[in-house]
Amino acid sequence: MDPWTFSSTVDYEDIMNKFGIKRFKDVVGIKDPNLLMRRGVIFGHRDFNLIQERINKNKGFICITGMMPSGKMHVGHKMVVDQLKWYFKHGGNIFVSIADMEAYATRGKSFEEGRKIAIDEYLSNYLALGLDLTHKNVHVYLQSESKLLNDLSFKLSKKVNFSQMKAIYGFENTINVAHLYVPLIQVADILLPQTEDFLSPMPTIVPVGIDQDPHIRLTRDVALRFKDDFGFMAPGSTYHRFITGLTNTKMSSSKPKTAIFLNDSPEDAEKKVKTAKTGGRESLKEQKELGGCPDRCVVYELLLYHLIGDDRELEKVYTECRNGKLLCGECKQMTSIKIKDFLEDLAIKRDESVEIAENILN
Ligand code: TRP
Ligand code: SF4
Repeated sequence: MDPWTFSSTVDYEDIMNKFGIKRFKDVVGIKDPNLLMRRGVIFGHRDFNLIQERINKNKGFICITGMMPSGKMHVGHKMVVDQLKWYFKHGGNIFVSIADMEAYATRGKSFEEGRKIAIDEYLSNYLALGLDLTHKNVHVYLQSESKLLNDLSFKLSKKVNFSQMKAIYGFENTINVAHLYVPLIQVADILLPQTEDFLSPMPTIVPVGIDQDPHIRLTRDVALRFKDDFGFMAPGSTYHRFITGLTNTKMSSSKPKTAIFLNDSPEDAEKKVKTAKTGGRESLKEQKELGGCPDRCVVYELLLYHLIGDDRELEKVYTECRNGKLLCGECKQMTSIKIKDFLEDLAIKRDESVEIAENILN
């Protein structure tokens, strides 16, 4: 599996079985589960139980993520922020790595561009979405600027060889060395919080999309190989489904028509919703008779992942769509109002956050 060219037409079941990922829905008794957990958007995990135990005992843990500053932030990326907020609320120490080294190596972004994108697109939106990046339990850094990170990555690379990299990532012999280097930086991102410079060994969780699983597997392996040196605990992970793009392909920053960007104007977003592919029928008559297919509708996905917080309200949309009572026109109208309200509010909060975002990296 190659995280940089991953396509979203994935068979989640198949991957779970192949790589030993557990079903998230088999985790019982989560206190105050968040929307993505309740609705099956988070479908898999490794060792989430260890984190649950810490939460239930009111003990601290580490939650780490990274963002590649290579393009615009879209509603799909928001899912990670929603999860970070949840872990933060439940006592997690949050680490956010800005993967400018990865963006340089795999997307051709200069370090200057990376920094600017990180501030304008990511950090200001993270803040606007309500994650307090200035809190003492939240650490934000640029990969390229952390000497501790780069030193750790170098140390860890000693116990990883080319065959393993090839087996995990499918690299060809012609791969450039930066591509080999970058996963080791990510491994170090995930393990750095457990070093003595930060919090020392502690249960760790990494909420990701399934495309990142190769990095997780490598990290878990490396953590154990260095157990005697650092006392690392293997990090756990959760996996969320990808949100479908508006045109029914992958939602992708590089294809503006597929995505609702957090910096889109409310009007643009409304238009995108109105022209999105739905799970509706060919004709009104047919839809009234047969009902729509919310399970194959990107408008419904927006509601499910982001726009309707109340489970009963969402269920109502689902049933009324299924039994033909709710038609796509009306449903899109309702959804476009919700997205407009959401983006308007976000834009105000983002304006208030830009300066804070700039200061975080200084
Ligand atoms: N590779 C991730 C991406 O493409 C970004 C990333 C860097 C990351 N370091 C990380 C994700 C650590 C999780 C944990 O988006
Ligand atoms: Fe999708 Fe709404 Fe149409 Fe149902 S009614 S198919 S949820 S747009």
